[in-house]
Amino acid sequence: MRLEGKVAVVTGGARGLGQAMAELFAKEGAKVIAADMGAMGYEAENVEGYSLNVTDGEGCKKFFDYVVEKYGKIDILVNNAGITRDALTRKMSDEQWDLVIDVNLKGVFNLTRHIGPHMQANGGGSIINISSVVGVFGNIGQANYAATKSGLIGLTKTWAKEFALKGGNVRVNAIAPGYTMTDILKTVPQELLDGFAKQTMLGRLGQPHEIAEATLFLAGDESSYITGQVLSVDGGMRL
Ligand SMILES: NC(=O)c1ccc[n+]([C@@H]2O[C@H](COP(=O)([O-])OP(=O)(O)OC[C@H]3O[C@@H](n4cnc5c(N)ncnc54)[C@H](O)[C@@H]3O)[C@@H](O)[C@H]2O)c1
Repeated sequence: MRLEGKVAVVTGGARGLGQAMAELFAKEGAKVIAADMGAMGYEAENVEGYSLNVTDGEGCKKFFDYVVEKYGKIDILVNNAGITRDALTRKMSDEQWDLVIDVNLKGVFNLTRHIGPHMQANGGGSIINISSVVGVFGNIGQANYAATKSGLIGLTKTWAKEFALKGGNVRVNAIAPGYTMTDILKTVPQELLDGFAKQTMLGRLGQPHEIAEATLFLAGDESSYITGQVLSVDGGMRL
């Protein structure tokens, strides 16, 4: 029970990596609020689904107020909601660029601007931003996505400094997952996925629970002296 007594918010928690995190955190004793614009794909004890589009700034404030009113505090925030709209740069539309920036980057700001200072005032907390191997290395056809995932690394380091002010005791870290089997990979051709698997030292793609375990480590007190870091969980891709 590594998260006993903790309250955790996981965005994009209705399926995929977010679901694996929400279920694992609840199993470890946390009360989890899975905020997602899509319908909950599962039911789990101590996981409450909440309908939220992270691009809606006012909605994020209402959500924050709701959680603090109902649960009394927030100890853990995982900024996991994210999307792709891939195209080569010369073919990328304004809509594709704007939507990915809005969800993956502004959406993270929309929630963290409330939850970060709340944790700082409340004696501490842990924020984990889900970046990507693409935010570290870049990727053809993902200029919009790569910009957001690299942007999250800048936000992670900035917030690690900002929310630690005045003894804030808020740790902020990022995880850069490699290619992991969820719906987000549905549009990626199998031969590309096979190629990504070959680029790892372990010769395979990741499983959602492997990203969730790393997130649990950064969420809990076992990582109490780690902040401002980017943890690659990618099977040693491109070592
Ligand atoms: N799966 C991978 O290979 C991989 C690799 C690196 C990084 N990531 C990142 O991990 C995170 C989770 O991805 P996943 O693989 O579970 O994808 P997924 O598509 O299975 O799940 C994403 C979830 O986010 C939700 N979501 C999307 N837009 C939202 C919005 N505006 N407001 C609220 N919720 C929204 C979706 O409804 C969905 O439940 C993403 O940020 C993704 O970029 C995934």
